[in-house]
Amino acid sequence: MKILKSSIRNVIASEKVTVCEPLNIYECTLHDDVFVGPFVEIQRHCVIGAGTRIQSHSFLCEKVTTGKNCFIGHNVTFANDLFRSGKLNPDPESWISIHLGDNVIVGSGSTILTEFICSGAVIGAGSVVTKDILKPGIYAGNPARLLREI
Ligand SMILES: CC(C)(COP(=O)(O)OP(=O)(O)OC[C@H]1O[C@@H](n2cnc3c(N)ncnc32)[C@H](O)[C@@H]1OP(=O)(O)O)[C@@H](O)C(=O)NCCC(=O)NCCS
Repeated sequence: MKILKSSIRNVIASEKVTVCEPLNIYECTLHDDVFVGPFVEIQRHCVIGAGTRIQSHSFLCEKVTTGKNCFIGHNVTFANDLFRSGKLNPDPESWISIHLGDNVIVGSGSTILTEFICSGAVIGAGSVVTKDILKPGIYAGNPARLLREI
């Protein structure tokens, strides 16, 4: 049996960053005052904006970037290989990258399957976001739909 240990590897982070072990984060950048809860995985080429909180059990696939002061609730999943051809896509270069603007709030248990969520958007708990969110508001459901503008 081969056992790989979860680790913090090649992370660029300021002294004002807080992370809770155990977690598995590598080849990513965490800006000032970022908080990362336990049992989180953040993969390579992610950049987490200043003041952003990532709560426990969330998964950030490669190439997720967030703006400032975002809140990623517990057990949120970001996915970048969307299986569009009906199978795993072996080419990471063609996986989507995902960008969140500033002050985005993602409710617990949500899944993000799209490339862009604008600043100020709120995603309800358990939502599945399948389309870009281009204007601030509260979105929820599967697929996530606008509940109301804010
Ligand atoms: C999305 C949310 C912000 C909406 O709050 P709200 O504006 O007060 O909405 P309401 O409770 O008035 O609900 C409005 C409608 O949306 C529905 N709704 C609310 N939240 C929903 C959700 N997460 N998914 C699907 N539908 C939802 C309600 O059932 C209601 O439907 P109806 O009009 O058919 O009765 C809130 O319900 C939510 O999910 N917050 C996330 C909380 C969270 O994850 N916190 C993590 C902290 S650790």
